[in-house]
Amino acid sequence: MQNNTFSTLFVGQNLIKLSAVDSTNNYLKKLASNSEPLPEGTVIMADHQYAGRGMQGNVWLAEPGKSLTFSLLLRPTFLPADQQFELNMLVSVAVNNVLSKYLSNHLSIKWPNDVYVGDQKIGGVLIENVIAGSKLKQSIIGIGLNVNQASFGEELAGRPVSLSQILQQNVNLMVLLSEICAQIEQLYLKLKSGKSTNLREIYVTNLYRLHKMATYSENGRIFEGVIEGINKTGQLRIKPLNEDVLEFGFKEVVFI
Ligand code: BTN
Repeated sequence: MQNNTFSTLFVGQNLIKLSAVDSTNNYLKKLASNSEPLPEGTVIMADHQYAGRGMQGNVWLAEPGKSLTFSLLLRPTFLPADQQFELNMLVSVAVNNVLSKYLSNHLSIKWPNDVYVGDQKIGGVLIENVIAGSKLKQSIIGIGLNVNQASFGEELAGRPVSLSQILQQNVNLMVLLSEICAQIEQLYLKLKSGKSTNLREIYVTNLYRLHKMATYSENGRIFEGVIEGINKTGQLRIKPLNEDVLEFGFKEVVFI
C-alpha cells in the first residue's frame, strides 16, 4: 500500500499515481481483476490520460497535469442491483459538496452525474459496476474534474469550464482529491450503515434545470418540458407541455 496524508479511513489510502495511462478506469479494472485482492478505496490517479473515457462512449480530454482524472474502487456488496443509482447520487453530491466550498453558487448536477456551473460542465463521472446475482459486487468510479486548465478546444461538447477559470487562481490538485475522497467516504459509510440518508433529496434539489421549462430531444423528437425529479431507479422524470410525465433512462434523452 502506498501511504499518503489523507484523513480518511480507506478511500484514497491506497493511492497509486501514474504519470500516463490510457484510462484510470481501465487500469483500475485490470488491477482489480488480478488474483491479489486490491483494498477497497484504492484510487488510481493520472497526470495524463491519453484515452480517457466519458459516458456513452464519449472521450474525456484533459490537459496533462492540469486537472483531476482518477478512479476509485468500491465494493458496495450491500447494495441491491436495482439501487445502483445510489452510487451516482452519492458521487455527484460528494463532488458538488466539495466544489461548493470553492464556488459560492450556480453549482448543479446535470442528470445523471455531470457537474455543472451555470450552463457549463466542470466535471463528469463514469461509473462501471459489476453485478453478481441481485447485488453489486464492484464499482469503479471514474471522476474527471476540470481544475487548472486555462482553455478548452472549441470542438469540445458540454461547454467545459475549469475551477481556475472561474476563481482566477489555481487550486491544489492533491488537496482537492483528498477532500473529494473524504466526502465520498463519509456519504458511502452512511449509505452502508443503512442510516436514513437524505441523499436523494439533496441530489434532486441540486438537479440542473429542475422545475425549469427547457428543450429536450427523444429519438429526434424535440419537445419542451420540465424536470420533476427522478424515479426509484434513477430515471429522469420530465413533464412535457400538455403531456403526462415521461421517464428516461441513460441515453434516452438529450438536453438541448
Ligand atoms: C462524462 O462526463 O462523460 C464522464 C467523464 C469521466 C472521466 C473520468 S476521468 C477518470 C476516469 N477515467 C476515464 O477514462 N474516465 C473517467
